[in-house]
Amino acid sequence: MVQLALRKFPMKHEARAPRQDSAVRTDAYWMPFTHNRYFKRSPASRTLVRAEGAYYTAADGRRLFDCLSGLWCCPLGHAHPKIAEAVAKQLKELDYSPAFQMGHPKIFSLAERIVELAPKGMSQVFFANSGSEAVDTALKIAVAYHRARGEASRTRLIGRERGYHGVGIGGISVGGIASNRKMFAPLLVPGVDHLPHTHNPAQMAFSRGQPKWGAHLADELERIIALHDASTVAAVIVEPMQGSGGVIVPPAGYLERLRAICDRHGILLIFDEVITGFGRLGEPFGAQRFGITPDLIAFAKIVTNGTIPMGGVIVKPAIYEAFMTGPETAIELFHGYTYSGHPVAAAAAHAALDAMAEEDSFKRARELEPLLEQAVHSLRGEPGVVDIRNIGLAAAVELEPVPGPPGMRALRVFERGMEEGMLYRFTGDTIAMAPPFISTGAEIETMIEKLRAAIRTAR
Ligand SMILES: Cc1ncc(COP(=O)(O)O)c(C=O)c1O
Repeated sequence: MVQLALRKFPMKHEARAPRQDSAVRTDAYWMPFTHNRYFKRSPASRTLVRAEGAYYTAADGRRLFDCLSGLWCCPLGHAHPKIAEAVAKQLKELDYSPAFQMGHPKIFSLAERIVELAPKGMSQVFFANSGSEAVDTALKIAVAYHRARGEASRTRLIGRERGYHGVGIGGISVGGIASNRKMFAPLLVPGVDHLPHTHNPAQMAFSRGQPKWGAHLADELERIIALHDASTVAAVIVEPMQGSGGVIVPPAGYLERLRAICDRHGILLIFDEVITGFGRLGEPFGAQRFGITPDLIAFAKIVTNGTIPMGGVIVKPAIYEAFMTGPETAIELFHGYTYSGHPVAAAAAHAALDAMAEEDSFKRARELEPLLEQAVHSLRGEPGVVDIRNIGLAAAVELEPVPGPPGMRALRVFERGMEEGMLYRFTGDTIAMAPPFISTGAEIETMIEKLRAAIRTAR
């Protein structure tokens, strides 16, 4: 799609892009969520060979500031010595332990540490290996929970427009990004409905932190529940802050209303905290930042600082207890993964949690938040900037599309940024930033100033 469009809408920099980089053979790799053909025209600048602290090094020798902490997952910095050491040690001590009917010490203690960080009143952790698996696990637990309590009619799931919940069948069904759903329509889970998204530029463009307008949008949940009847609804799932959808911050009072409506109707509230978990919003979870305790939290990414895949679901005691019935020798939940609670991932997570505590990472994210907010909002008035959003150590700058397929303008900004040593993230025509917690103030300012220059050039 992108390549076709390039023929129709030649970009200024096209002449600079070498057709093929002979040093890198790329054909055999089908890249995820990537414009494969366009990437493979010039792979060297976008092939990363090393990482340390807040910087990547590309195959062409360029040093790149990691503006999105990998894919939202490496805020403690790359090649963290504590994590690297823990992983190396674990590989020699216990490289794998069967996940079913067996355990190992580090996963028990990790579950305990995660519960300690979670909002009060949450008590057990079920482990998976990614955000997508965590979400599908949470949805399965929610439906099975109601069945275990004798309310088997509660099967309906409610997600939200523009929500991203990974790429599992459950996750794309409750997710609200059309491009992630349309190719797979026959696979979407039936009985799913969606809340409207909360982004209304006319009412909230350039809000700093939580927009004041929009709490009433949560009342749509009442309408959806009335339509289907509460007795058919199992759970509502939302990201407390929509990350992949473009840093869409919940309006003040919105999550409170969702919580109250779910309580009124016996519906479980799931927070997908795959991005917001472990400090991105300056608190262990978005739940604490917004003062709302959901019934389940899905997490992944930062739990291991992105080093070894791990995800999971935290639940309240009533959920766990609902399954702990029947003969003690019977399996209570027919779900799990070969790599659930993998010892190497557990070792990485312990080391990451140690580092977060020693480096006071959540506090650091809170300290940097006003600086990022101030800097990013200074881009208001730059050419084509139609909205700026921020919360915690996350921000997005939305650009007015240029003629052609969506995302062309942001692609140009992204490529200009690469030339200037900045690895921004773009989705559609939005540039997202979630810098590492270890960033200095000066690095955050440079990230924004270089974005300003890229926006001015890449029109
Ligand atoms: C909120 C949210 N949920 C789920 C996922 C999926 O995680 P993964 O890519 O690890 O499967 C993501 C990934 O970005 C996410 O942002």
